[in-house]
Amino acid sequence: MLASGRGSNLQAIIDAIERGELPVTLTCVISDRENAAALGRARHHGIEALALPVSQFPGPTQQEQAIRRHLEDRGVELVALAGYMRILPAWFVALYRWRILNIHPSLLPAFPGLRAPDQAIAYGVKVSGCTVHFVDEGTDTGPIILQRPVPVLPDDTAETLAARILREEHIAYPEALRLLVSGRLRVEGRRVHILPPAPRVEVHT
Ligand code: GRF
Repeated sequence: MLASGRGSNLQAIIDAIERGELPVTLTCVISDRENAAALGRARHHGIEALALPVSQFPGPTQQEQAIRRHLEDRGVELVALAGYMRILPAWFVALYRWRILNIHPSLLPAFPGLRAPDQAIAYGVKVSGCTVHFVDEGTDTGPIILQRPVPVLPDDTAETLAARILREEHIAYPEALRLLVSGRLRVEGRRVHILPPAPRVEVHT
């Protein structure tokens, strides 16, 4: 996983794995910020945590190449972004085509980019929510996997709305990962089809 901040989505994913609800191995958490709380959460659960700040490299490309090397060395198949505050370059996205996921605190395509709950309040929408999507070359533009709506209440501030959206994020992200790793997502152009679960095979002898 790549995370820059508090890591509550990381925590939701770790919890789902530990409850046996998400059959993935969380190999490592990489952050561009040394002091990201996400790194501490990972270490607390015995997950490798690496800080790769851009300032430690000659430039962003070298930092991105270092991330690539770390992922390749560990045989990582899937990259989940949660509050990772840097845009991944096109070559990186192409390398992991439809294998990079992101979560965003709005119902995309409304309010992409920074401070989505602030944007929702300022615009006056009555419903917002969260979106889990594949990452493509744009900012918050990739094919949508799952969305969960959240009503905007009359006295909501950006903070209260963001907090209610976050609760839905913690349900949506593990669910999207579960669908992906169980082979139930098919990308067709912009659309992501969710396939029915494979039938249980019963063998009678
Ligand atoms: C979440 O609101 C997510 O939607 C956005 O960044 C925030 C990350 O929160 N992309 P956390 O670090 O997972 O707590």
